Amino acid sequence: MPDHVVTDPILTAEGIVVRFGDLTAVDRVDLAVQRGSIYGLLGPNGAGKTTLIRVLATLLKPDAGRATVAGIDVVEDPGLARTRLGLAGQFAAVDEYQTGRENVQMIGRLYRLSARESRQRTDDILERIGLVDAADRRVGTYSGGMRRRLDLAASLIGRPEVMFLDEPTTGIDPRSRVGIWDLVQDLVRGGTTVLLTTQYLEEADVLADRIGVIDHGRIITEGTADELKATMGGTIIEVEIDPAHRDEYETALAGVGEGETTFDEQRNLLRIPAREGAESLLAVGRALDRAELVPVDIETHKPTLDDVFLAVTDDTPSDDAPAPSDGQAPGRKARR
Ligand SMILES: Nc1ncnc2c1ncn2[C@@H]1O[C@H](COP(=O)(O)OP(=O)(O)O)[C@@H](O)[C@H]1O
Ligand SMILES: [Mg+2]
Repeated sequence: MPDHVVTDPILTAEGIVVRFGDLTAVDRVDLAVQRGSIYGLLGPNGAGKTTLIRVLATLLKPDAGRATVAGIDVVEDPGLARTRLGLAGQFAAVDEYQTGRENVQMIGRLYRLSARESRQRTDDILERIGLVDAADRRVGTYSGGMRRRLDLAASLIGRPEVMFLDEPTTGIDPRSRVGIWDLVQDLVRGGTTVLLTTQYLEEADVLADRIGVIDHGRIITEGTADELKATMGGTIIEVEIDPAHRDEYETALAGVGEGETTFDEQRNLLRIPAREGAESLLAVGRALDRAELVPVDIETHKPTLDDVFLAVTDDTPSDDAPAPSDGQAPGRKARR
């Protein structure tokens, strides 16, 4: 991983540890997030994302380590830190008897926007978040998904220095998801720094300037999307095999690629990170030929963040495997 210098860190963490009984939910996490950037924390269910955000947003005291928001220590001075940060999820207590629009406008006023500005921003946010049709209904009639979106709208109307968005698009339909991406990018253009968590590789790829991949409470790799992809070499060679002969394939192909070969049990694919160009593919072909193995299929493709995730995460999911609601960027797991 290339050394990365953060010249103006607005959010830092050093050696953060959170334990729940025997479980270490966050395990010595270090972070430095550049002011004005979007940092994506990418990981499966149970990886420790929410727990880490709760520490950074002053809602949970870590068992070890320290963290700062806008230079303020979140453990020593949580009250002051809170004035500088925003967190989606904090408006769970919306007023059931008011409409969605009224709720968001009211929160805009709490953030000291003028009445007019609050109205305009509310209209804009509700539109992009896909809540226009329901905007004038009482919140008491909202479904769970609508409440989540309303919560996000409420957290987006202020313009805090640092905004924490915990899985802002999980369970949200693809169209509203793109609207939310736009809103997040707007927020950053307005000067806010964003730390968002996601289970979707595509989301991290689209939004994040830097990405930390987290699993079992540890950040296991970190970099820009391009850097992470580059660690995979220029090409991924996928060899579809008969799983009954997996050992023979692995023996035959040992050392052929550039990095660690992984196996996708669902699709019976051996994934070999390799150098770009025909030579790597020929080497795979020759190795298989020598071992007299004829695979079902061979394909090559450019590495995606999905490949990075498969290569760097452990083969046991932190918790239950994530179940993406729309089949996008599925959290497939490699077994070695
Ligand atoms: N309050 C809690 N008490 C006990 N265990 C918890 C608590 N909160 C989270 N955990 C456990 O800590 C781990 C990390 O959880 P979490 O931070 O919610 O992960 P993520 O947000 O990445 O899905 C999980 O194994 C989860 O079950
Ligand atoms: Mg979570």
